[in-house]
Amino acid sequence: MGNLAWLNGKISELDDAKVGVQDRGFLFGDGVYDVIKIYNGNPFRLISHLERLQRSCNAISIELPHSIGDVEVVVGNLIKESACRDGFIYMQVTRGCAPRDHFFPIGAEPTFLIYILDLGFPSTKNSLKMTECITLPDERWMNCHIKSTNLLPNVLSLQKAKEAGAGEAILYRPDGTVTEGTRTNIFAVIDGIVRTHPESPLILPGITRNIALDILKEANIAVSEEAFSIEDLSSVSEVWTTSTGLEISPVNKIDGRLIDAAVPGPVCSLLVDQFWQKVEAECGV
Ligand code: PDD
Repeated sequence: MGNLAWLNGKISELDDAKVGVQDRGFLFGDGVYDVIKIYNGNPFRLISHLERLQRSCNAISIELPHSIGDVEVVVGNLIKESACRDGFIYMQVTRGCAPRDHFFPIGAEPTFLIYILDLGFPSTKNSLKMTECITLPDERWMNCHIKSTNLLPNVLSLQKAKEAGAGEAILYRPDGTVTEGTRTNIFAVIDGIVRTHPESPLILPGITRNIALDILKEANIAVSEEAFSIEDLSSVSEVWTTSTGLEISPVNKIDGRLIDAAVPGPVCSLLVDQFWQKVEAECGV
C-alpha cells in the first residue's frame, strides 16, 4: 500500500483525502498538529505526541474528536495497512468547515486528519547529519507552546536559512534571548554546562528535547534549563538541535562561523548514542 490517510474516520490513499475549501485550517490556520516518527514499523513516543496534541487542542478550545486510546488504535491500523517501516505520522485537527467568519462557528465538527508518509528508507544513527545555522529574529507569536498550523514565520525563516546555504535558523527575541529553531529545539554547551530555553510560551515543548534532557540527567551531565543569548553563541563548545524529524543533530556552523571544537562534541555524541538506544528499545531496529 502507498501512503494512507484517515480523514474523520474514512481511510483512503493520501492523495484522495479531500478537505472542503471552507475548512478553517485552510482559511485561518485555525488548527493544531503533531508529527510522529515511525521506526521499524513502530511509532516512537506516540503517547507523548498524542498528549501534546490534546494539550494543543485544549489551548485553542477545539475538542479532540476521539480519545487518545482510540487514536492510538487508528494509528496502529494505518501503519499496518500502509505497511510503512520508516516514515512519519502527520496529525492535524482544525475547527472544521464553516462559512468564513472569525467567530468560532456554531455546530461545526472538527476536521481530524491523520496520514502516513513513508520515507522509503530507514533513519538510523548512521544518517547523522551536521546542521549549519543562521540566526534570525524570532517573529512568532507569544504562544509557541501550542503546536499551531500557523507556521508562516517558521516557513519564512527556514527559507531564509536555505537561501543562505544553512539548514536551520536559530531564533532570538528582541532582548537577544535564543528561543529555538524554526522546527527544532536548540541546546548549547556554555562553560561546561548544557543549556536550553526553559519550557515557556516562547518555545514548543519538544518531545525530543525532553528525551535529551532525560538522557543528560541519567548520565549526570550538568544541564540547566536556562535561556542563553545570541552573544553566548560566540563562546559555545557544542550546539545541537533536537526534533522528531532530524533527531539529535549537531550544529557545525553558525552565521558562517565554524564551531571551534570537533563536531559532534562529546556531549552530543553521547546523546546521539543514547537516543538511538531508546529508539531501538522502543521500536526495535
Ligand atoms: N517540528 N520547535 C518547533 C518550532 C518545532 O516545530 C518542532 C517540531 C520542535 C521539536 O519538537 P519535537 O521534538 O517534539 O519534534 C521544536 C515538527 C517535527 C514539524 O513541524 O514538522
